[in-house]
Amino acid sequence: MSLANRILELKKSKKAIVLAHYYQRPEIQEIADYVGDSLGLSQKAAETDASIIVFAGVHFMAETAKILNPSKMVLLPDLDAGCSLAESCPPDAFREFTEAHPDHLVITYINCSAEIKAMSDIVCTSSNALRIVESVPKDRPIIFAPDKNLGKYISKKTGRDLLLWDGSCVVHEAFSIEKLLDLHKANPESVIIAHPESEEHILDVATYVGSTAGMINYVKKHPKEQFIVATEAGILHKMQQEVPNTVLIPAPAQEDNTCACSECAYMKVNTLQKVYDCLLNESPQIDVPEALAQSALLPIERMLELSK
Ligand code: 13P
Ligand code: SF4
Repeated sequence: MSLANRILELKKSKKAIVLAHYYQRPEIQEIADYVGDSLGLSQKAAETDASIIVFAGVHFMAETAKILNPSKMVLLPDLDAGCSLAESCPPDAFREFTEAHPDHLVITYINCSAEIKAMSDIVCTSSNALRIVESVPKDRPIIFAPDKNLGKYISKKTGRDLLLWDGSCVVHEAFSIEKLLDLHKANPESVIIAHPESEEHILDVATYVGSTAGMINYVKKHPKEQFIVATEAGILHKMQQEVPNTVLIPAPAQEDNTCACSECAYMKVNTLQKVYDCLLNESPQIDVPEALAQSALLPIERMLELSK
């Protein structure tokens, strides 16, 4: 029996669900019960009645699923699946930052640890950040962390002066504006779409800026022959399935980055074999200490409430 079929059997016998992010390897996306962006994945995690959640994504995503489901088993195929953005916001330094600005409401992007979420008032993702910031009264100052690029973008869109944490995603900061403009010049009919974790100069030349799910919906609803896609290359698998006759070109990364540059090394440590192994062995599991989980739950629930 193929590895994929063995996973499907195990899922059935163990009443497990596999949630996968769009940046996961194609073969993982194919056996998943749901593939989505960070918001969709947390919404699915919040509503599932499965006994086991296999989170094919990175640590902060599985941790969020565990916080939402303290009594369920949450498995992450490889514990090394971290996130440069989450790592750019260490809890001690962030505590000092928030304590220095006690009048500020703290909105944090979901790409952060449970400790950071526990210090936050509201969590957001790239698909609801605008709405969440706009829900805050205009006279209330806001700390926005950890992604400065998303923060800058939301600040520009809302005209609000957000106090930003200096964090970023290595993958989205690797795009080269010069190469992108050259590529667009060579393909003048193409439409540039970008994820808001990208730098300002990339977002400034994009026709559409949105979350991974937002980008997929955009190409479905705005039929064009060609898109240049500025986000992690894993998205191209689902996107191409949705628009099979459209040419999708991954945005180019900077010169010195010669590898498969727009790939997130953290997302890619998960493999189909590791998905199978973790479900078979029920390990590695994600655990969040109860008190920490309770403090981190409230700002996540506020986000889910504001996203209905
Ligand atoms: P979304 O899928 O929510 O847009 O997030 C992108 C990302 O970088 C996840 O780590
Ligand atoms: Fe983190 Fe960036 Fe990888 Fe997303 S793509 S998991 S933000 S390092």
